[in-house]
Amino acid sequence: MMELLSRRRMAILLVAALSAFPSANAANLPRQGIKPKPIVLDRSGGFQIGGSIINAPGNPNRTLSCDHGYVEYFIPWTPRQTSLVMWHSSSTQVFQNRWDGGPGFKDMFLRRDYPVYLWDGPRVGRANWACQNQTYVPGYGDQSNFVSWNFGPSYMKWWPDVQFPTHDGAAWQQATSARYQEFNTYANVLLHAHAAAVAADSGRLGDSIVYLTNSAAGLRAQLTAVRSNVTNIKGIVAYESMGFVFPDNVNVTQSTFGGYGPVVVPLDDFKKLAQVAAIQFVWGDHRGPNDSWVQQSRQCAALINAYGGNAEVLMLGDDAGLKGSTHIPFADMDNAEVAVLLDQFLARYSLDGYADTAGSI
Ligand SMILES: *[C@@H]1O[C@H](CO)[C@@H](O)[C@H](O)[C@H]1NC(C)=O
Ligand SMILES: *[C@@H]1O[C@H](CO)[C@@H](O)[C@H](O)[C@H]1NC(C)=O
Ligand SMILES: *[C@@H]1O[C@H](CO)[C@@H](O)[C@H](O)[C@H]1NC(C)=O
Ligand SMILES: *[C@@H]1O[C@H](CO)[C@@H](O)[C@H](O)[C@H]1NC(C)=O
Ligand SMILES: *[C@@H]1O[C@H](CO)[C@@H](O)[C@H](O)[C@H]1NC(C)=O
Repeated sequence: MMELLSRRRMAILLVAALSAFPSANAANLPRQGIKPKPIVLDRSGGFQIGGSIINAPGNPNRTLSCDHGYVEYFIPWTPRQTSLVMWHSSSTQVFQNRWDGGPGFKDMFLRRDYPVYLWDGPRVGRANWACQNQTYVPGYGDQSNFVSWNFGPSYMKWWPDVQFPTHDGAAWQQATSARYQEFNTYANVLLHAHAAAVAADSGRLGDSIVYLTNSAAGLRAQLTAVRSNVTNIKGIVAYESMGFVFPDNVNVTQSTFGGYGPVVVPLDDFKKLAQVAAIQFVWGDHRGPNDSWVQQSRQCAALINAYGGNAEVLMLGDDAGLKGSTHIPFADMDNAEVAVLLDQFLARYSLDGYADTAGSI
């Protein structure tokens, strides 16, 4: 109790101190020569969640615990109420560091006192024990990574303004080596969404969850909100979501080829996305307005809003002036500015309050 009270007091003092400065957001941008405030954790750890226990054929005494997700968490000493659940597509590494090894969103948002959860869905990363035999196919993918991550129009032809340290061969090598096997199938999308919904509904990620997703994780997070049975999920900020959910009363044809949607769900289920307080579909630069993914995101956002939700599309290049943003903009060289946009979004929907004082300041 003592501990809680003193933390609450510290949080109030901190909020008071911040509001004394007119430009709290500018204060979040790193300044040359000024050491940022330390990351002070109450605790960190990890756990498995969801999944199944299956019996061996012909021998019920032998079981396999499998298809769970894995969560690694970091809880600040004076936490904000909202948990940021960082949901990668290529690897957790994208949330851990900027392309040049500088600070990633994990540390940047721990410094801002957000509890941070790194999520590996079933079969990927540290949740790799599957309930089925898997065929592991390491494709020759470095060249396609370069283009998929929108570093340039073709391999080693960088966009002139790209937010990547182009002359640092080690940075490129780190980026491409970090990638995991992804299992981009429709069945895997459903498997991940179910495990994540179990995790969200368990309360173990807190009662105010905002997913930060990248690429194929965006579709999985939308479906997670559709499958969740409680209201812990408050937000989705989907960076370059590859895939969208649509209701069954519009003329969108579901695709189960690959893991990129569109996924069509009954209208009543779709309406759960309108109950999520805040949804933002964020795009990097070098995507024209006619890009079919951007168009899908606009259609999806309009439908969510038509049912009373709050969804928007943000083009980092054209709307926010962050030219050269890549497919993984929170790891870009200007990720401090991408983070300020996230600060503003969370504040706009009152998702930035402190845990013990939420709603009372
Ligand atoms: C499973 O365990 C039970 C209890 O120990 C034993 O009676 C049975 O023979 C075992 N079955 C197999 C297939 O090993
Ligand atoms: C994987 O394949 C082997 C060999 O066919 C089989 O014995 C085993 O039961 C399979 N594992 C699962 C989880 O299906
Ligand atoms: C939500 O409830 C439905 C209906 O009971 C159930 O099928 C589904 O598995 C539940 N979702 C989760 C994540 O537990
Ligand atoms: C629905 O979409 C299909 C394929 O794009 C198109 O052929 C059809 O005319 C559309 N129907 C309506 C009612 O818009
Ligand atoms: C987008 O598509 C429209 C209609 O097909 C076309 O007129 C326009 O030039 C396109 N814009 C871009 C930037 O490609």
